[in-house]
Amino acid sequence: MNLIVVGAQWGDEGKGKVIDVLSEDADILIRYQGGHNAGHTVIADGEEFVFHLIPSGLLHPGKVGLIGNGVVIDPAALLEEMGRLEARGIDVKRAVKISDQAHVIFPYHKRLDLLEESTRAGRIGTTGRGIGPCYVDKAARSGIRIGDLCGDGFPELLRRNVAEKNRLLRALYSEPPMSYEELLAQYRGYAKRLAPHVVHGPRFLREAMAQKKRLLFEGAQGALLDIDHGTYPYVTSSSATAGGACTGAGIPPTAIDRVIGVVKAYTTRVGEGPFPTEFSSELMERIRTKGKEFGATTGRPRRCGWFDAVVARHAVDVNGCDAVAVTKLDVLDDMETIQICVGYRDGSRTLDDVPADAALLERCRPVYESLPGWRSETGEASGFDELPAAAQRYLKRLEALLGVPICLISTGSKREQAFKVGCW
Ligand code: GDP
Ligand code: IMO
Ligand code: MG
Repeated sequence: MNLIVVGAQWGDEGKGKVIDVLSEDADILIRYQGGHNAGHTVIADGEEFVFHLIPSGLLHPGKVGLIGNGVVIDPAALLEEMGRLEARGIDVKRAVKISDQAHVIFPYHKRLDLLEESTRAGRIGTTGRGIGPCYVDKAARSGIRIGDLCGDGFPELLRRNVAEKNRLLRALYSEPPMSYEELLAQYRGYAKRLAPHVVHGPRFLREAMAQKKRLLFEGAQGALLDIDHGTYPYVTSSSATAGGACTGAGIPPTAIDRVIGVVKAYTTRVGEGPFPTEFSSELMERIRTKGKEFGATTGRPRRCGWFDAVVARHAVDVNGCDAVAVTKLDVLDDMETIQICVGYRDGSRTLDDVPADAALLERCRPVYESLPGWRSETGEASGFDELPAAAQRYLKRLEALLGVPICLISTGSKREQAFKVGCW
């Protein structure tokens, strides 16, 4: 069975944890978009590991991870992550494969990301990792791919790109130029170390499927950060929804058996952009502290709010989710009352879908439904029946609002604090 797992809110839903749990039943794990803007946390055997580019299931022995063509790769970040995995006893040489078609992030991408953010009106609040500018080069057909980096034509491609970026840095931002020679030496060093991992992605997966290997595709970010289906322009620059797995890994849609969306039992978002159910300060502090809502990549405090069923329903729709995994239920353990947003109001108008216009969504006021909290701990539960009645009611209500079943519930950050529900 081939499965896609995607974020169904604004990222940080707990995809890393869910992937880690589901990886037991998979052979090949694949990242298909985004880059090291992602931070996917796994806590196994009492130790925390944050994945940025490598698929989150690789702490399980014997798994193979592919970084697909749709990912943008900062070689320094990837090598650092490989080193951390190696230190955990993983045979990285065998376990990590990289598509030759994935694009490479260079320091000029990062500089442009930061410069654009500091000069544009209406900043996005990016992670500053050079993700957007690298995808710009990809779309402009001037990007450098992993295959290029490891090939003979690299010096010439780099020379052209550095010259162009230096013109841009000078003319637009009055910034000093970057040194071609230094970049060439640095990236040649990376190429040497990455070359043994490079494969033809689509072929690698085709052969795996022919051998009946089970594939698990790991989305980064979330549907509301998707370049098309998110709250544009407050989005990332890639296709974070399930469709992205096909283009971003080179597999046909017919090869996908199931799609699972991951949602938190409430909502968070990092960076700028509309967020209808965002808490006011007292609840914000309470949930942020209890849920440890600080970015796994940048350490920024995450904005927190109530569960937004309009947002999650939109994500279920565009991803074609067969089911959802609900994480961080335990964070709501001591709430007296819990609210769920079931629609929006703009003046006298009611909306039941996420509007394309970010300014309109910014204006929208949430329409809430209130449910009683359970005021007891859920962290030890190992099945749905062990959850307090009010927690069961809350989850049942989410299922009804989303129109799909819940397949997995997580009640703590550790690997053991999760259980599957129903026949999944
Ligand atoms: P991802 O980007 O979707 O993989 O999510 P992150 O790793 O960025 O953020 C999720 C955070 O919540 C991490 O710190 C996880 O360790 C933590 N986490 C995941 N599931 C649960 C859960 O059920 N309960 C609690 N309290 N923490 C969780
Ligand atoms: P994971 O995979 C949460 C957000 C940034 C910013 C916007 C654009 O861990 O869920 P970018 O650097 O991608 O150009 O920033 O997207 N963002 C994320 N928010 N989780 C992520 O990844 C994110 N990756 C990017 O905060 O608002
Ligand atoms: Mg994250």
